[in-house]
Amino acid sequence: MASDMKIAEAPEEPLDDFVIEDAYVAWQRREEVRVIEDYAFGDLCEIELSPWPRKGGAGAIINVPNEYLPNDAHLVEIAPRGKSEPERHMYEENVYVLSGHGATRVWLDGYEPDMFEWEEGSFFSIPLNAWYQHFNGSAEPARYVAVTDAPPTMRRMRDDDFIFNNPFQFISRYKAGTDQFNGGKLFNRRVWETSFVANAQDMPLYGWKERGAGGINVMLEMANNAQKAHISEFPVGTYKKGHRHGPGAHLVILSGVGFSLLWTKDDLSDLRKCDWKKGGMVIVPSDQCFHQHFNTGTTRARYLALRPGTAGFLPPHGLGRKIDISIKEGGCQIEYADENSKIHEIFEAELARHGAKCRMKAFVPGCNGEYGPTNERDT
Ligand SMILES: [Fe+2]
Repeated sequence: MASDMKIAEAPEEPLDDFVIEDAYVAWQRREEVRVIEDYAFGDLCEIELSPWPRKGGAGAIINVPNEYLPNDAHLVEIAPRGKSEPERHMYEENVYVLSGHGATRVWLDGYEPDMFEWEEGSFFSIPLNAWYQHFNGSAEPARYVAVTDAPPTMRRMRDDDFIFNNPFQFISRYKAGTDQFNGGKLFNRRVWETSFVANAQDMPLYGWKERGAGGINVMLEMANNAQKAHISEFPVGTYKKGHRHGPGAHLVILSGVGFSLLWTKDDLSDLRKCDWKKGGMVIVPSDQCFHQHFNTGTTRARYLALRPGTAGFLPPHGLGRKIDISIKEGGCQIEYADENSKIHEIFEAELARHGAKCRMKAFVPGCNGEYGPTNERDT
């Protein structure tokens, strides 16, 4: 009962020896590598790196400005004809190659290693806690961006030895010496299951008319890992429908020119416009942040989205089947007819600046443009 409640007396200042450090932040500091806090990057290839001994090259770690970090991005460059240090770790890692060509060796102690070759545009996943080493076969530096779930893993375990020197082998996820890095197979409609995509820039995609004008897509289940990926592409003069979900979706631009809008307030007072081209990256920084992507270039625009699995995508705004359903029906998506008119005005202004034409007349009420693509590539 309230009248019996005893209130403990707490010291006014925290005790110095009782401070629990953020294990992930502490690890970043020990790595002595550059850490960048932002969520929009015009070109990942132009970001300045610092030495990163663990990787045997140079690098930077990218965090969104959000205390809750479901994942992070490791930007790494391997010297011409150089190689990375062999490593394994208890966090997952999905790798997209931004430049260069080479090969990667993946293995478990006591098993035959797998070896596969990559080039600009390749996308692959390191099986959890498997050893791996990258070899740059080019005369130029090779650069990749890897999205990992190191932040939640380190914050939970708080022990470097557990993370980086753990002998457990996930045989259930990775069967060494099999065809795991050999291209994979279509698991079901739009879902591809593999550990290696030779070139994400030209991988065939499938229709998904619910997400907007002429867009096509493939969902990727990589290396039996929990982190997810997908590739989306949309035509010239169009844009996808806006939607929202949990934080941590890293969108690496594979082709095209355009921009993304991100906002959380209905009146768009906190709207941020992020211009991009091939090699750029936009990250969904916070929970339920609306985002929308626009093609203002002369070619189709394609991106690779690297995102957490279940974490951050739980109901009531779960990714799952609600990702392409109107917010009016309990989903996460803003239908074209419901969007703030400022959105389309920004798009038309950007098109005019680029000398391009809007092709959204069939989709957006009041659009001044032309009739554009239908979903002729839908399956
Ligand atoms: Fe999204």
